[in-house]
Formats: sequence, structure tokens, C-alpha cells
Amino acid sequence: MKIFIDTADVKEIKRLNSIGIIDGITTNPSLIAKEGRNFEQVVKEITSIVNGPISAEAISLDAEGMITEAKKLSKIHKNIVVKIPMTSEGIKAVRVLEKEGIKCNVTLVFSVTQALLAAKAGASFVSPFVGRIDDIGKKGMDVVKDIIETYKNYDFKTEIIVASVRNLEHVKEAGLLGADIATIPPQIIDEMFKHELTDKGIKKFLEDWDKVKSK
Ligand code: E4P
Repeated sequence: MKIFIDTADVKEIKRLNSIGIIDGITTNPSLIAKEGRNFEQVVKEITSIVNGPISAEAISLDAEGMITEAKKLSKIHKNIVVKIPMTSEGIKAVRVLEKEGIKCNVTLVFSVTQALLAAKAGASFVSPFVGRIDDIGKKGMDVVKDIIETYKNYDFKTEIIVASVRNLEHVKEAGLLGADIATIPPQIIDEMFKHELTDKGIKKFLEDWDKVKSK
């Protein structure tokens, strides 16, 4: 499973990318706004750090506006993927952009039928938001499971990004289901490394080593 970082925080991206397990980045307008910096500057800086797909979102609501924004964004760097919201106008834009070689990530996806439309339009990526589905009392990972099954029926090439990841259970289930990608906030990536028995084990090894090292 590929791991993307779900943040626009350049410091965090540098820190986690240096470990060598990061395959790409996703941003959205809320994550960019949190940084309080110029959108294009942030995106450009991210492209200079991570060599992989970098999602940057279009904010227009009509296809024409999305296409104009997407063309501008794609000029920033070859790795830019344009995030397009799941609407009929969005799907119209995705068809045009993918045909022109601009990769799209259809975002704000909450159902299999939406994911079907994204794949039919030729989207490179689709992002089901599992955490937000959980928030309304349904099971986000069930939607991911159904999207995977449905895509297999038709051999769609659209890669599934498990998004709106809120905990380690989401990451584990994404792996068990064989999702292509999980985009994960930095603090949850940090949690992935941890286990109390690892800490306990290291402590014990060091204590035992201390007893013999001077012998
Ligand atoms: C990533 O592509 C999404 O924009 C992000 O995961 C949304 O996460 P949230 O539901 O926690 O805002």
C-alpha cells in the first residue's frame, strides 16, 4: 500500500519524507488555509520535497473554471494531480483533463456510485472519505471495500486513495482490503511506528547491555 501524507505542513512533510516511506501528498483548501501561506508557493515547495503525486485542489464549481485552474496548477510541476470535487461538473472536467494528460483525484467521494462515475470518467485517483462517513454513523471502510470489489469487476485503472483517515484501524483495514493508497495525517503516521512492547523491548535490551558492556 502506498502511503501519502495528508497535510500541507512543509516541516512535517520534510520530517516524514526523510524516513523514506512516503509516496505522495494530498492537500485540500482547509489544510492549505491552516498554513496561512500562498497556495501556489506551498504546493511548489512540496513538489521540491516529495517525488510522487501531489494533490492540489481546484475550487471552481463549474467544469470550465476547474479546467482553467487545473491547467494552471499542472504547470507548477509534472507530479501535480488536480483534486476535483465529485459533482457532474467535476466529472465533466475530469474527462477533458485526463484526455489531455492531466491527472485528477476525484475528491469528496462517499459512495460506490460516485466512485463508479469517477472511474468511468477516467480519473487517475478516487478519494473515499472514510472518517467523514464514520461521522454520520456508517462504516467508511465498507464503502472502500465495495469500491474495490466494483472496480475489480470492470478492471478500472483508477487508484483508490483511502482518505479522511482518523486512526490506526483505518490504516489497518485499508491494508487488509488491499487499497492502493492511504493518505494519512502526520500524527497517525507517527503512531504507525509505535508499540508499547517495542519501547519495553528496547529498554530491556539496553538495561541488559549496560550490565555486560564493561566486562
Ligand atoms: C484528503 O484527500 C482529504 O482531503 C482529507 O483526508 C480529508 O480529511 P478530513 O475528513 O479529516 O478533513
